[in-house]
Amino acid sequence: MKLVIATNNRNKLREIKEIFSDMALPGEIEVLSLADFRDVPEIVEDGATLEENAVKKARVISEFTGLAAFADDTGLEVDKLNGEPGVYSARFAGEQCSYEDNNNKLLSLLEGVPEKDRGARFRCVIAVVVPGGKTYTVEGEMKGAIAISPKGANGFGYDPIFVPEGQGRRTFSEMSSEEKNNISHRSAAVRKSKEVLLEISGKSSYNK
Ligand code: IMP
Repeated sequence: MKLVIATNNRNKLREIKEIFSDMALPGEIEVLSLADFRDVPEIVEDGATLEENAVKKARVISEFTGLAAFADDTGLEVDKLNGEPGVYSARFAGEQCSYEDNNNKLLSLLEGVPEKDRGARFRCVIAVVVPGGKTYTVEGEMKGAIAISPKGANGFGYDPIFVPEGQGRRTFSEMSSEEKNNISHRSAAVRKSKEVLLEISGKSSYNK
């Protein structure tokens, strides 16, 4: 079975592939990415929830390729901001903003907020769509806190300012990709998707 990972984000693709290889998927599943196709339609992520966006991306790519598609939508939910930026995490600081712009905006909104009130979590929803078949979703989360200032050079997005729970005071950007993949929201969701992938590749029965 061919499975297309529906993302243009190279960092996400790398992490998903690393987690897949760690999960030892059966050889029947051949993993492709959007780089294997030409004229891929642009997808506007205008859903009101992470789930809607993940399902939309997977549906569009499954219809376009005629293959099973796998999409991730992720948001950072900050307690002090009532769950924002959430589904708007990508463009938090504006349409063409950089990761750094988003991090700076978040840090300035939390200026003066003490450590104990800087709680946040990453939530990752993965949708798997089979052509002419079912749509599955699974979810993973990682709790943590927003750092006072950016630290570390690895990862992407909000990683330099996110301190995951139970890892001392290190941000995701101060961890190796292996360390992040062991505990991250994406890793939790990707690992949960294994049952779905086995089912759709005919290896197991998924009773949902
Ligand atoms: P989307 O899922 O592509 O819509 O991503 C939403 C936003 O969250 C983007 O700004 C991403 O860079 C950021 N993001 C997604 N996953 C992660 C992650 O694992 N670490 C840090 N930031 C992330």
